[in-house]
This record gives sequence, structure tokens and C-alpha cells, in this order.
Amino acid sequence: MTDYTFLVEEAFKALENAYAPYSNYQVGACVLLKDKSLIYGANIENASFGGTSCAERNAVFSLYSQGYRKDDIEAIAIVSNGDYIAGPCGICRQVLSELLNQDTPIILDNRKERMITNIEKLLPLQFGPKDVL
Ligand code: THU
Repeated sequence: MTDYTFLVEEAFKALENAYAPYSNYQVGACVLLKDKSLIYGANIENASFGGTSCAERNAVFSLYSQGYRKDDIEAIAIVSNGDYIAGPCGICRQVLSELLNQDTPIILDNRKERMITNIEKLLPLQFGPKDVL
């Protein structure tokens, strides 16, 4: 089985860039691309709370913005300093269901526990492009 420790540590570097003055809950994400590039994301909050954007969405939107697409993605690590590993929120699961391949490894880690999963497991019965295109 692949050892994702390197990618997890890169995600913890991204976590240091979190802007989370309201929740004090920092999240970091790092995407490993097949060309070996690393794309980072951190949660960025806003005084108008709905303006907050999650770490994993920021990372995935960033790589799409740079022209990469789901087939370019090897794995994504999402980390927090919380007591529990941060399972992606519902909005992020919806976004990841469209922008990641179903079996792309999603590594969740909080320095106490690590889980390797994928979006097919995290979001059953998906609503997606097949329903609206
Ligand atoms: N957060 C993420 O960045 N990713 C998730 O999947 C869970 C929640 C952030 C949003 C907010 O800044 C903070 O964690 C607390 O909800």
C-alpha cells in the first residue's frame, strides 16, 4: 500500500496558511498530481461566514484554474489539528464528486489517526453531471 506520509506532511504545511480567526479550526489540503506537482489549499474564513471556503475546495479549484483536470490527480490529503479527522463537509463532498475520479485516494489525517478513502465511499447516490447534462 502507498505510504502517503509525504503528502500528509505537505498538507500540514498548507494548514499553516489557514485563515481561520472565527473558528480557530485550521484545515490544510495538498493534491499530488501525476506530473508530481503539488497544489495546496487552506481554509479561508470571512466575517460574513458564508464567504468561507474550505481547504480541499480551494486546492481542487486551484488546480482546475491552472488547467489540470481530474485525470491528472494522483491523490489528495486533507488534514486538521482537530480531535477527530476532518471528514470533508457536505459541500466539499458534492464538489469533489464532480472534480475527482471516484477512486482517487483521499487521505484524512489529524496526527492521531489516518484514513484512506475515496469520494465513492464518502458520497453514495451522487447527484452529478449525468442528472443535468
Ligand atoms: N473546513 C474545511 O476547510 N474543510 C472541511 O471539509 C471541513 C470544514 C473549514 C471551514 C471552516 O473554516 C472551518 O473548517 C470550521 O468549519
